[in-house]
Amino acid sequence: MSYLDELFSVAGKTALVTGAATGIGRMAATGLIQAGANVMIASRKGAECEKTAEELNALGGAGKAEGFAGDVSSEEGVLALAGEVKKRTDKLHILINNAGVSWGEPFETFPYHAWARVLNVNVTGLFHLTRELVPLLEKAASHEDPARIINLGSVMGTQPIADGAYSYTASKAAVHHLTRTLAIELAERRITVNAFAPGPFQSRMTAFATKTDEQAARIGSRVPMGRIGAPDDIAGATLYLCSRAGSYVTGAILPLDGGQSVQHGMKLFKD
Ligand SMILES: NC(=O)c1ccc[n+]([C@@H]2O[C@H](COP(=O)([O-])OP(=O)(O)OC[C@H]3O[C@@H](n4cnc5c(N)ncnc54)[C@H](OP(=O)(O)O)[C@@H]3O)[C@@H](O)[C@H]2O)c1
Repeated sequence: MSYLDELFSVAGKTALVTGAATGIGRMAATGLIQAGANVMIASRKGAECEKTAEELNALGGAGKAEGFAGDVSSEEGVLALAGEVKKRTDKLHILINNAGVSWGEPFETFPYHAWARVLNVNVTGLFHLTRELVPLLEKAASHEDPARIINLGSVMGTQPIADGAYSYTASKAAVHHLTRTLAIELAERRITVNAFAPGPFQSRMTAFATKTDEQAARIGSRVPMGRIGAPDDIAGATLYLCSRAGSYVTGAILPLDGGQSVQHGMKLFKD
């Protein structure tokens, strides 16, 4: 095995990526499968997850995908999903808490129920699924090669941009904080906990603004690096955090945003 292969290898590892039939979850799952991991994909639409798994298996990577239904919006859903995972494996090296929902509406009419709906999936589901799967992660974890958790935060959880998605931005700030508290909680069990804080990527959630090339270019022009995110931006960060290369990183909120988190409009002394 080459130096690079050994340092960044995830070959033979078992992963669960929630919400990976589409968008960012699919980008992370693709990277893991291409690099030799066995990846379970679960979201509410089980048939879509099965179809995505078939498509990812057809790419010819060294790993394998398996898709099935799982809903993280309720306690029963989380327990059922954890049960499905336990049926398929007795240890889990990687958990990517990617499932997420949003709600956008003006401040004046933002509905009461859009808080519970968003927080249930993005925060409560993430915490409880993690807790249910910690025993499996612990079984895969070692001092030299910890088990890995990656949570999906957002640049909107770091910067005060609401864009009408009030409960969403608050949920992502909560994900960042929970990531840090879980990182310290789980360190002694040899499980790392980090978060991605992406800027704009094409997905079902952002289709309203990024679907066409023209839309993507317009949104990308606002990003310091001049483009929206690409699938390998997610795949590369996933392989880093899930391989030996990332085994000493925990509690990090990794900006994957082309510089948006350091963007500002301030001017001090120079014009
Ligand atoms: N795209 C971006 O620009 C961006 C930026 C920052 C952060 N993020 C975060 O990245 C993550 C992925 O989002 P995305 O942008 O890729 O959007 P997406 O394509 O809409 O993906 C979200 C996924 O979550 C799944 N999901 C929703 N509710 C669920 C539930 N109750 N149980 C299980 N799965 C559920 C959906 O599948 P089902 O409908 O089948 O359940 C869907 O596949 C989210 O956490 C999002 O907040 C995205």
